[in-house]
Amino acid sequence: MIAFDPLSTDERVRLVDLHPKLGDLQQEAIAGLRSSQKALPCKYFYDALGARLFEAITELPEYYPTRTELGIMSQAVHEMADAIGAHATLVEFGSGVGLKTQKLLDALIEPSGCVLIEISRAALEASARQLADRYTDLEVIGVCADYTQALRLPRPRRPSARTVAFFPGSTIGNFTDEEAVRFLGRVAELVGQGGGLLVGIDRKKDTKVIEDAYNDSLGVTAAFNLNILSRLNQIGANFDLTHFRHHAPYLEREGRIEMRLISEREQRVCIGDAEIALSEGEHIVTEHSHKYDLGQFEEMARAAGFRLTKQWSDERDWFSVCLLEVD
Ligand code: AVI
Repeated sequence: MIAFDPLSTDERVRLVDLHPKLGDLQQEAIAGLRSSQKALPCKYFYDALGARLFEAITELPEYYPTRTELGIMSQAVHEMADAIGAHATLVEFGSGVGLKTQKLLDALIEPSGCVLIEISRAALEASARQLADRYTDLEVIGVCADYTQALRLPRPRRPSARTVAFFPGSTIGNFTDEEAVRFLGRVAELVGQGGGLLVGIDRKKDTKVIEDAYNDSLGVTAAFNLNILSRLNQIGANFDLTHFRHHAPYLEREGRIEMRLISEREQRVCIGDAEIALSEGEHIVTEHSHKYDLGQFEEMARAAGFRLTKQWSDERDWFSVCLLEVD
C-alpha cells in the first residue's frame, strides 16, 4: 500500500485557467431562432434563477431521475469504489460538489486527487474551496475550461493509479447522440488507457412516467423553461412570456423528451436588431433529454472507445449508473 504524506493547505487547492471562450447568448439565440426548426441552446437555462429552479425540479415528486440515481449511489457506492480501485484521480465535469460526488468521494479508497472542470471561474473557485474544506486530505485541482472541448488534465501531486471521470445526473442525455459519442470520445482520451467514466443515464420506460417528470403539476419545469426567454429579455429581447406555453412531449421514435415553448398566438419578437416571426402554435425547442436502453448506450460507448464493464440500476430499471472503461 502507498503511504501518502499529508499535503499543506497551499498544496491542496490549485486552479488552472484555460480561459474558455464563453458563448454569446444573443448571437446563438438569433441563429437558433432563424433556423427552420426554431431552437435555443439549453446551456443558457442556468443563470442564478435557472440553477435554483433546476434544484427545485430535482425535488419534485414527478422528477424521478435525481432521487433514483441517489438511491442507486447509496446502495452500490462501495461496489463502485471497489470497481474504481484505490488511489484513483477523480474528474468531475461541472462545479460538482453535489451529494452524489460526496457519496463517491466518501467511499473511494484513498483517492489521489480530484479535478473539477467548470466553465465559470467563480463557481469553480467556490466549489474547489468547498471540496477542499470538506476533504482535508484531498488535493483539489480546479480547471476553468469548457468540458465539451478537448483539453489536457493536470496531474495531482500524489501518484495516481488511474483517472476516472464522474458524470452523473443523466446530463449526457441533453446531448444529441452524435454529440454524446463525441463527448464520450473526448473523455476516453482525457482519462487515457486504463481510465474510466462513471456515468448516469436515464432509461427508457413508460411514456407517462417520463412525460409527468417534465410536465410537473406545480409548473416548476414550465418556469425553468420560460426563464430562458426572460434571460433573453435582459439582453435586449422583448418576449411577452404570457404568450408562450411550456410543453414537453416524449418522442417515442427519437427516444427523447423535447422541451418546447409554444407560441400561443401569431407574434413578432425582437432580439437586438433581429426580428423573429412566430405563427400561432409554432414551437421553439429548448432542450432534448434522451432516454436510453442499455444495449444502445453500450454501442455509443463502444463507438467512443469505451467498454461498458459494470452497471448498477434501481429495481424498476428506470435509471442506470454505468462504469465505462478504456481498454
Ligand atoms: C440537467 N438535465 C439532466 C435535466 C434533464 O432531465 O434532462 C434538465 C431538465 N430539464 C427539464 N427538467 C430537467
